[in-house]
Amino acid sequence: MKTHRIVLAARPQGLPKLSDFRMEEAELPPLGDGEVLLEIQYLSLDPYMRGRMDDVPAYEEPANAIGSVMEGGTVAIVRESRHPDYHAGETVLSYSGWQTHAVEKTAELRKLDPKAAPVTTALGVLGMPGFTAYAGLLTIGQPKPGETVVVAAASGPVGATVGQIAKLKGARAVGIAGGADKCRYIREELGFDAAIDHRAPDLAAQLKQACPKGIDVYFENVGGHVWDAVFPLLNLFARIPVCGLIAHYNDTPPFPGPDRLPVVMDDVLMNRYTIRGFIQYDFAEQRPAFYREMGQWIREGKVKYREDIVDGLENAPEAFIGLLQGKNFGKLVVRV
Ligand SMILES: NC(=O)c1ccc[n+]([C@@H]2O[C@H](COP(=O)([O-])OP(=O)(O)OC[C@H]3O[C@@H](n4cnc5c(N)ncnc54)[C@H](OP(=O)(O)O)[C@@H]3O)[C@@H](O)[C@H]2O)c1
Repeated sequence: MKTHRIVLAARPQGLPKLSDFRMEEAELPPLGDGEVLLEIQYLSLDPYMRGRMDDVPAYEEPANAIGSVMEGGTVAIVRESRHPDYHAGETVLSYSGWQTHAVEKTAELRKLDPKAAPVTTALGVLGMPGFTAYAGLLTIGQPKPGETVVVAAASGPVGATVGQIAKLKGARAVGIAGGADKCRYIREELGFDAAIDHRAPDLAAQLKQACPKGIDVYFENVGGHVWDAVFPLLNLFARIPVCGLIAHYNDTPPFPGPDRLPVVMDDVLMNRYTIRGFIQYDFAEQRPAFYREMGQWIREGKVKYREDIVDGLENAPEAFIGLLQGKNFGKLVVRV
């Protein structure tokens, strides 16, 4: 059995280029006891993959090796099984990476019920990004009724979910997104109270106007100029779940100055901010509650989601490079 796969061809310098990826055909190993052969239907493209392309210490070791299959979550159909609990035709969530077929151990799989929800949601609102929003906002952000919650990358799967959960908890949700269409979507379709385009030259002034009582929770997805606009508006005892810093994922040293750490830390001390970084699996014990609660919110129409589906595995590199530039609109998924 053969697979078509995309491997890491070179370590990117700054924004990845198409030549940093290579598509190739490879022979799969024979199916061992307890293993299944998967045909991949959908591949999730996520910002963390950029970090996995660098050979620097990160929260997971080691990075993608040169020549190895690009990592990634997938939805797949079991085509052959040598495990008694898995049967041909079943749909599973797996971590089989950027390829068309894979041989996997079942311990790494989760069965999906295609009748319960569209299977692609297992990669987005009902999967890792949705869980990131849920656990990070509720555990670290702890929004209270009447408070103001700000989130950027607000039309993406994490940010869109953060804003909608904030609303469900009685807070005001202010979203920051790239461009008029994304801003309209989060305000009119998702019910954010305000939406601001981060490309606007007066971003800081617009944000101040949208947050007349300051910011109580800033769910940090981006960093960069968005952080600069948010920081002066933070209230006493503000909470800042640090989830992602996508504005910096393509930075290469030396990093731009000036060093503002002393000023920032002075404010952290004087205003008693809680700044806590997290990786979603730190909260793994909350996953059953997440599946239950988020499933219910989606069924009741209280949480909405949008997917951006790209056709063809061969188009994954271009789509991924676009994700790092804000070209996606909603959860980016490749129909393999
Ligand atoms: N800690 C964790 O466990 C965890 C788990 C999942 C995701 N994350 C992080 O959460 C964040 C959102 O992830 P996602 O999957 O929901 O991604 P996403 O929103 O679908 O895509 C990333 C978005 O970031 C925005 N962006 C890119 N460069 C930017 C810049 N320089 N300034 C401002 N915005 C920029 C773009 O949206 P606009 O067009 O709106 O600018 C882009 O569409 C990322 O930082 C990701 O790494 C963390």
